[in-house]
Amino acid sequence: MTQTPSGPHTLEVALGSRSYPIHIGPGLLGEPGILTPWLAGRQVMIITNETVAPLYLERCRGALPEGVEVHELVLPDGEATKNLEHVSRIWDALLEAGFNRRCTLVALGGGVIGDMVGFAAACYQRGVAFIQVPTTLLAQVDSSVGGKTGVNHPLGKNMVGAFWQPRGVLIDTDTLETLPPRELSAGLAEVIKYGLIRDADFLAWLEREVPALRGLDPEALAHAIQRSCALKAEIVAEDETEQGVRALLNLGHTFGHAIEAHQGYGAWLHGEAVGAGMLMAAELSARLGWLDETDVARVRALLEAAALPLAAPGDMGVDDFLARMRLDKKNVDSRLRLVLLHALGAACVHDTTPEATLRGLLERFPRA
Ligand code: NAD
Ligand code: GLY
Repeated sequence: MTQTPSGPHTLEVALGSRSYPIHIGPGLLGEPGILTPWLAGRQVMIITNETVAPLYLERCRGALPEGVEVHELVLPDGEATKNLEHVSRIWDALLEAGFNRRCTLVALGGGVIGDMVGFAAACYQRGVAFIQVPTTLLAQVDSSVGGKTGVNHPLGKNMVGAFWQPRGVLIDTDTLETLPPRELSAGLAEVIKYGLIRDADFLAWLEREVPALRGLDPEALAHAIQRSCALKAEIVAEDETEQGVRALLNLGHTFGHAIEAHQGYGAWLHGEAVGAGMLMAAELSARLGWLDETDVARVRALLEAAALPLAAPGDMGVDDFLARMRLDKKNVDSRLRLVLLHALGAACVHDTTPEATLRGLLERFPRA
C-alpha cells in the first residue's frame, strides 16, 4: 500500500442530497473563510470547551467569513459533561442570541463536543446546520464523520441521540500537536478498529507504523486519518442508519461501553475501553474457532504498541459485564449481538454466541 502525502486531501460522504466533504490537511483552520461554503445563513455559533478554546477558538473564528454574526459558547470539558444538561445549555445560548432556523453550529473539539453539538443541531427548531471541526485523533477518524450524535445516560453510553449529518468536516491535522499522548493512543484504538474490521493491508501497515504515529509523524498521520475516514465514509454511505454493515464499526464497543458506564464516564477514555474491548472480541473469536492464537497475539501486540490497556478493570465481574452488555443498542429481542472477527480484516455480527463461551471469556480475561 502506498502512503499518501500529508498535504490537503478531500473525501466525500456520499449521501445523495445530504452528501458532504471531509477536508483533511495541516493548517486548514488557518485558511480564512474556509468554512464559508457550509454556512446556512449569517448566524453562526462556535461551541467548544474550556481546554480547546484557548488553543483553537481564535483560529476557528478566522476560518469564517467577514460579516457573519459569530457567537461563542465555551462548555466545561469531559465525558461526564456529555449529557442533556449541557445540550440544554447550547439551546439556551441559541435562544438567548435569537438564532433562527438558518443558523449554523460549529463543533470545535473532540468527540464529546461533536456528539453534543450535533444532537443540539438535530433538535434545535427541528434541525439546523452544523459543521464538525474535530481536534482529537479519535474525532478526526471516527466521531465527526457519519452523523451519529447524542449523549450518555447514567444507565448506558450514547443511549439518547439522533442521526444528523454535518454540512462538512474540517480536519486540521496540526491540532494533534497539542493532544496529550494518552488521548492520541485512545484515537489509535479507532484507527486500529478499521484495519481489524475491513482492511488487512491497513492493519499490516499499522503494525509497522504505530511508533511513527505515536511520534506524530505527519506523513503517517495523514495516511492513517485519510484511510480511516475513507473506510468510514464508505460504510456510512452504504448504511447510514446502521441497519447492517455499519454495526461492524462497533467492534469492541459492546465490551467497551460496559466498561465506560460501569467505571463512571471519563474514568477510562472511550478509546481505551474500545481497545480492551477489541482484545476481548478477538479472544472470543478465537474461542469460537475463527481466529488462531497468532492472530490474537497480533491484536494484543498492536494494542500494546499503541499504549492501550490489555486488561479489563479489576472491579468488573462477569455479571457486571453481562448486565451492561444486555443494554447495548445492537441487541434485538433481548438477543446479545456482538461484533466479532472471522479473520483479521473481516468482522461479522454474531448473535448466537453460547452464554457459556462468553462467560468463559469474561472469567478468564485479565483484570488490571
Ligand atoms: P473528548 O472529546 O473528551 O476529547 C478528549 C480530551 O482532549 C478532552 O479533554 C478535550 O478537551 C481535549 N482536546 C481536544 N482537542 C484537543 C487538542 N487538539 N489539544 C489538546 N487537547 C484537546 O474525547 P474524544 O476521544 O475526542 O471523543 C470521545 C467521545 O466520542 C465519546 O463520548 C464517544 O462516545 C464519542 N464517539 C462518537 C462517535 C460517533 O460516531 N458519533 C464515534 C466514536 C466516539
Ligand atoms: N462509531 C460508530 C459509528 O459511527 O457507527
